[in-house]
Amino acid sequence: MADTLTVTDNRTGKSYELPIQDGTIKAMDLRQIKTGPDDFGLMTYDPAFMNTANCRSRITYIDGDKGILLYRGYPIEQLAEHSDYLETAYLILYGELPTDGQLQSWRREITLHTMLHENVKKFMDGFQYDAHPMGILLSTVGALSTVNRDAKNIFDKTTRMRQILRLIAKVPSIAAYAYRHSIGRPYNNPDNDLSFTGNFLNMLFKMTELKYKPHPVLERALDVLFILHADHEQNCSTTTMRTIGSSQADPYSAFAGAAAALYGPLHGGANEAVLRMLTEIGSLNHVPDFIAKVKSGEAGSRLMGFGHRVYKSYDPRAKQIKKIADMVFEVTGKNPLLDIALELERIALQDDYFVKRKLYPNVDFYSGLIYQAMGFPTEMFPVLFAIPRTVGWMAQWEEMLLDPDQKIARPRQIYLGSEARDYVARDQRK
Ligand code: ACO
Repeated sequence: MADTLTVTDNRTGKSYELPIQDGTIKAMDLRQIKTGPDDFGLMTYDPAFMNTANCRSRITYIDGDKGILLYRGYPIEQLAEHSDYLETAYLILYGELPTDGQLQSWRREITLHTMLHENVKKFMDGFQYDAHPMGILLSTVGALSTVNRDAKNIFDKTTRMRQILRLIAKVPSIAAYAYRHSIGRPYNNPDNDLSFTGNFLNMLFKMTELKYKPHPVLERALDVLFILHADHEQNCSTTTMRTIGSSQADPYSAFAGAAAALYGPLHGGANEAVLRMLTEIGSLNHVPDFIAKVKSGEAGSRLMGFGHRVYKSYDPRAKQIKKIADMVFEVTGKNPLLDIALELERIALQDDYFVKRKLYPNVDFYSGLIYQAMGFPTEMFPVLFAIPRTVGWMAQWEEMLLDPDQKIARPRQIYLGSEARDYVARDQRK
């Protein structure tokens, strides 16, 4: 059986044999299909990249029909059970689980980069007291390119790795500072005795105590949430990271773009939108009315935290998150909105509208409930997504940079505007 595709162009009667590799044909192979010498050649039309592979990647694998998610081949369930965020981050970046020695030096290096330059704190001070922390995060990280001027040197391996370490280590510090700024409290310096996640909690919540002690259950729960959010192949924000990176911009500028993409309510902003939705529903007896509103498509309303471009079965991350919710609620007490969420899920999973469209809870459906129970304000939710996704963006960015197949990202269009016409003087316009 030949690995080729034979295409007959019925406009000309000509046939073409196109190679098939890894279940794809090259879009550029279609260009030879022309009706005549002046024809540009055939293109594909694929808004939102519904069926276009943009790269070859070795980082994350998703089988959306079976609900499988692997980082570098390791199932997400096993990593959530046995690993921690920094070990998983190492795996995502380097492709293999670290040895003991490698892990120790990796932790040390990240820890050494957690402090922020005093100037960075100054420009963060300039934000309005009620600025959204995601807006603060993405602009501040973008501004780091002015502080780390060596970041432009993207093809030097050592320099590149230095920026990656800085980003993984400093994003939590910026996130925590953004939060403290919004509540008018002084910044907490990083505590390098604590774990990556423990220190993040310290920078957020430490008050007058001499040493902050994170609650071990909450620390572990947040760490597992970080594992679950570390990468997710070619989603909207990762594609943005790769696209900006393809112009050879520095990683801080590209990160700012990726974080902006994540901010939207159809992507990482969905966890914030879920909480607002649950609060608006307010009580169990309003759930059927809300479902009816979603089904009627009234004012574009959607069941936030449901549905996914790739998963057409239960999101494996959502399954893990439900387990973490139990763990957290034992410590914090149950989030009163949980019952509404469970009822929404129960109804949606048996309602024809959702079943037919294969709409299941995604990663964002339950995560907000946990964050809220842990004391995070709703506006911090997308920020809590961006922190662990930093390593995914970095790994994908580096893979793109080193891939000889990649060039500056530049799609084509189908032009539907006016034909060429002459400029009309202002006094002759109708
Ligand atoms: N509620 C109600 N209906 C929905 C939902 C939803 N959450 N999601 C999809 N649908 C419907 C659409 O209206 C459409 O119906 P139609 O065929 O009758 O027109 C059908 O299901 C297919 O939906 P699309 O919008 O074509 O699916 P797409 O793959 O483009 O969108 C997305 C995926 C953006 C995630 C969508 O499901 C959605 O908006 N979900 C809510 C927001 C959300 O939770 N986002 C987080 C995603 S996970 C993440 O980014 C981390």
